[in-house]
Amino acid sequence: MSKILEVKNVEKYYGSRNNITKALDDISFDVSEGEFVSIMGSSGSGKTTLLNCVATIDRVTTGNIYIDDVDITKLKGIDLEEFRSYKYGYIFQDYNVLDILTVFENIALALSIQNISGVEIEKKVIDISKRIGIFDILNKYPYEISGGQKQRIAVARALIKNPSIVLADEPTGALDSTSAKKLLNLLEEMNKEINSTILLVTHDPYSASYSNRVVFIKDGKIFNEIKKGNSSNKEFFDRIMEVVTLLGGDT
Ligand SMILES: Nc1ncnc2c1ncn2[C@@H]1O[C@H](COP(=O)(O)OP(=O)(O)O)[C@@H](O)[C@H]1O
Ligand SMILES: [Mg+2]
Repeated sequence: MSKILEVKNVEKYYGSRNNITKALDDISFDVSEGEFVSIMGSSGSGKTTLLNCVATIDRVTTGNIYIDDVDITKLKGIDLEEFRSYKYGYIFQDYNVLDILTVFENIALALSIQNISGVEIEKKVIDISKRIGIFDILNKYPYEISGGQKQRIAVARALIKNPSIVLADEPTGALDSTSAKKLLNLLEEMNKEINSTILLVTHDPYSASYSNRVVFIKDGKIFNEIKKGNSSNKEFFDRIMEVVTLLGGDT
């Protein structure tokens, strides 16, 4: 399988000379096409910093990050803008659903920066909404739909661009357990059915148990890595908990 993401010897420092936080300390790992990988660690371990560096929202201090063999730490200006709009799908914690737009328009918005015709946009929105089970509500406004359906909009918006990688930072953080489960099931389904490559950052072992591989970080360093293999989500959850206990159990 080809490598979609390659993180090489990444370090990230915050602050100035007298007050330095080393948020990432020599992090290296790869994600291959079609993998569903979780980055797990307790609060303050560097998860968001790592995801933001991969997402080009934040800059590394040293090291390199390759997406489809392009070193994103070297990208600037218009090249960076283009890369962001074509290569990444993001799932934000609060969904960023706009109340004044219909479901259709909310999803189509994700393609607006790309140079695609209206007809093509419509085709793509219909296709992804059918896959995700929100085709019936395309003409509704956010106030007319459920929280679970809003989550689906967020996932549709991330996937419609057919991005190289989908990035999600604690996407279930603000959800009750039923909604969280639905979102995780949807991500798992998209990974299996359309081979979406997903990088999920979480402190929650239950969320991580949906992925195929978990990379644990502690104090900005990689601590361990485990693969799901043929285990069920439940078995994988138990193995994740063992590592969490080794880590200090504070996630
Ligand atoms: N903008 C920032 N300025 C200074 N320190 C930061 C900043 N962002 C994060 N940090 C520090 O970097 C470390 C890792 O933070 P973060 O990546 O947010 O962890 P996590 O997402 O795992 O909770 C923490 O010690 C945090 O206080
Ligand atoms: Mg965080």
